[in-house]
Amino acid sequence: MYTGELVRLRALEMSDLDDILKFYNTLELRRFLGPPIVRSRRCMEQWLQKVSIWSPWRDGHLYLAVEEKGTKEFLGVARIEDLRLPHNRGEVGISIYNPEKRGKGYGTDAMLVLLGVGFEILGLNSIYLDTMEDNKRSIEVYEKIGFKRVGLLRETEYMDGAHKDLLIMDILRKEFIEKYPDGTFKDSQ
Ligand SMILES: CC(C)(COP(=O)(O)OP(=O)(O)OC[C@H]1O[C@@H](n2cnc3c(N)ncnc32)[C@H](O)[C@@H]1OP(=O)(O)O)[C@@H](O)C(=O)NCCC(=O)NCCS
Repeated sequence: MYTGELVRLRALEMSDLDDILKFYNTLELRRFLGPPIVRSRRCMEQWLQKVSIWSPWRDGHLYLAVEEKGTKEFLGVARIEDLRLPHNRGEVGISIYNPEKRGKGYGTDAMLVLLGVGFEILGLNSIYLDTMEDNKRSIEVYEKIGFKRVGLLRETEYMDGAHKDLLIMDILRKEFIEKYPDGTFKDSQ
C-alpha cells in the first residue's frame, strides 16, 4: 500500500507466518531486537494474530509487512508504536529478516516509507527509535536518513554477556519535510 523505490509496506497477514519463521529464531537477527529468546510456531502465530490487527488509534501501534516491490517477496517487518495524543509522537523499528536481503538498500527504503506513513498519514510531529550501540549498520542507515543522535541509555541492554548502551535517535516533522519536500512515497500503485 505504501510504496518506495524498492519496497512496499502492506498489512501483515497470517500467510506471512512461514516467511517470518524461516529467519526469526536466528541469533544474528534477534541479538539486535532484544533478548533472543527462542519462539515456537504457536507463540509466533499468536504474536502475528495480535500485531496484524493492531490499529494506531485503538491500540497505539501499527505493524506492517515489508515486501520487495517487484517480486512481492516478504522481507521483514516495519512498525510504529507508542502513538500518543496529544504528543503526536511515535517509535519506529525495521527488521529485514533474511540476511541475504540486507545491505541492498531495502532497510533504508522501508524506513523512508515508514516515516512517510508516520508524518504524512498519521500526522506525527516526532518519531524516535532506539538501537544497540554496536548495531553499526542500523545507525549508519538512520543517520543517512536524517535521524539525529539524542542520547544514550547507559548499560541498559544485556547482550552477549555484557551490559550495553542503547542509542536514542529522533527526527522531527519539520526536518523530514525539509529533507524530503516531495515526500517518500514513490508511486501510488
Ligand atoms: C538494520 C537494517 C534494518 C538495515 O537494513 P539494510 O537493508 O540491511 O540496510 P541498507 O542496505 O538500506 O543500508 C545499509 C547501510 O549500512 C552500511 N553498513 C553495512 N554494514 C555496516 C557496518 N558494519 N558498519 C557501518 N555501516 C555499515 C552500508 O554500507 C549501507 O550504507 P550505504 O547505503 O551508504 O552504502 C537491517 O540490516 C536489519 O534488519 N538488520 C537486523 C535487525 C536489526 O538490526 N534491526 C534494527 C534494529 S534497531
